[in-house]
Order: sequence, then structure tokens, then C-alpha cells
Amino acid sequence: MKVTLQIELIKGKDLSSDEQQAIIKFCSRAFEKELDSLFRAFVYPTHVLGYQAGTLVSHALWVTRRLRAGKGPLLRTAYVEAVATEQAFRGLGYATAIMKRVEEEIQDYDLGGLSPFSVAYYERLGWELWRGSLYIRTEAGLVPTPDDEQVMILRLPKTPDLDINDTLSAEWRTGELW
Ligand SMILES: CC(C)(COP(=O)(O)OP(=O)(O)OC[C@H]1O[C@@H](n2cnc3c(N)ncnc32)[C@H](O)[C@@H]1OP(=O)(O)O)[C@@H](O)C(=O)NCCC(=O)NCCS
Repeated sequence: MKVTLQIELIKGKDLSSDEQQAIIKFCSRAFEKELDSLFRAFVYPTHVLGYQAGTLVSHALWVTRRLRAGKGPLLRTAYVEAVATEQAFRGLGYATAIMKRVEEEIQDYDLGGLSPFSVAYYERLGWELWRGSLYIRTEAGLVPTPDDEQVMILRLPKTPDLDINDTLSAEWRTGELW
């Protein structure tokens, strides 16, 4: 089916508080949980908004994080969050279109990252499941992430050679660690 989605990009800092609240409500509805505090923890998000006939129907955002594979360099990573489509508009390719746009927009980063709800969903879009152990970098050192957490990466033009069996770490942050 042809996707008729109008996609707009906006930085979180340029949203009015009403617009920000509308996005949080939209995502909370899609995830069926209150996301207010999670959203407030995102640092400098860029939102990708999909409109159908003027109504917000699909969304994703990315924040910038520093991921590190093994003992490699810190990688400036576009970390994707809050991928959501309004229930009545699911299965129409909208989130796929939003993710394609995210991919276009983050080409200048060293890497893409996200924590998937479904590995298969993002594999279709070219993302790869990280197979090695996950850690969070803290002042006290590396804190291992429980095994049930999954992270996927998207290789971009600037991504160095990465071995997905290596360890992967991210800086500590408030809200969800991955
Ligand atoms: C996941 C979500 C964003 C997909 O949005 P969407 O606009 O319907 O996605 P698309 O139309 O681009 O893709 C639909 C495809 O995803 C597949 N899909 C949907 N949910 C899936 C799941 N849990 N596991 C695997 N595949 C899934 C559908 O089967 C469909 O496949 P098809 O194209 O072969 O028929 C939407 O279901 C949603 O908002 N879910 C609640 C929030 C959430 O979990 N977000 C993900 C955070 S990582």
C-alpha cells in the first residue's frame, strides 16, 4: 500500500510545551503506559513526526549518546526512542517510513542504536542485534546490563569496523539506561 505520510522533523527545544505534551500523550497512548517522566529525561531529542491529513499518527525520536564497542573509540550514536504509531493506523507502513527518515537524517553520526520491542521488526530495516555483553559506564566503572536487555545497531557511512560479539557500553543516563 502506498504510504501517504507527511513527515516533519523538529528538535525538542523548538516545541512549545503544548506540542511537547501532545507528543507525550500520543506516545503514552501507543505504549499504553505513562511516558511523561521518561520523555523529560531525554536530552536534546529530535522528533520525527508523521502526519496523516494533519493528524499525528506516527512518531520516533533520537538522542545523541556515546556508545563504545570493546576498547574502540566513543561512537557518536543516534539512539532511537519512542517509535510509535496510533493504534488505528498500524500496519500501514508508517513506522517503517518514519524509521527510513530517521536513517536518512542520522547519516552523519558514527552509529545508530536502539532497544527493540522486536528484533525481527528492525532487522527488516537493516538493524543488527548486538550479540556481545552490554554495559553502562559509570563513575564506579562498568556496570553489566541484565541479559534480557537487547540493543540493535545500524551501521552508517562513518561507522568503523565493529564486531557485534564484542562488548558494548553506553554512558549512564537518567530514565531507561538502554
Ligand atoms: C511497533 C509499531 C511502532 C509499528 O508501527 P506500524 O506503523 O504499525 O509499523 P509498520 O506498519 O511500519 O510495520 C508493521 C509491520 O510490523 C510488524 N509488527 C508489528 N508489531 C510487531 C511485533 N511486535 N513483532 C514483530 N513484528 C511486528 C507487523 O506484522 C507488520 O508487518 P508487515 O508489514 O509484514 O505486515 C506500533 O505497533 C506501535 O506503536 N506499538 C506500540 C509501541 C511500541 O512497542 N513501539 C516500539 C518501540 S521499540
